[in-house]
Amino acid sequence: MFVCICKGIRKSDIETLARKGGQGSEDIKKLTGAGTECGTCELRIQRVLKEIQSNSTSTNISDKEDVAG
Ligand code: FES
Repeated sequence: MFVCICKGIRKSDIETLARKGGQGSEDIKKLTGAGTECGTCELRIQRVLKEIQSNSTSTNISDKEDVAG
């Protein structure tokens, strides 16, 4: 799925970069150029980043449960 059509950036590209340390939408913009043309993908970029954050939070919670249990 394309997140940024202007730059041809896919959801998987953003996920890969976010896991390597691109934490915010500004990082993703700088690294990929996404959001720097028409700007209509801004919300899609933020949604993908939120999704990644919530997935990693879920992982952290289950890690804590493993330690406690
Ligand atoms: S769709 Fe991303 S800048 Fe146009």
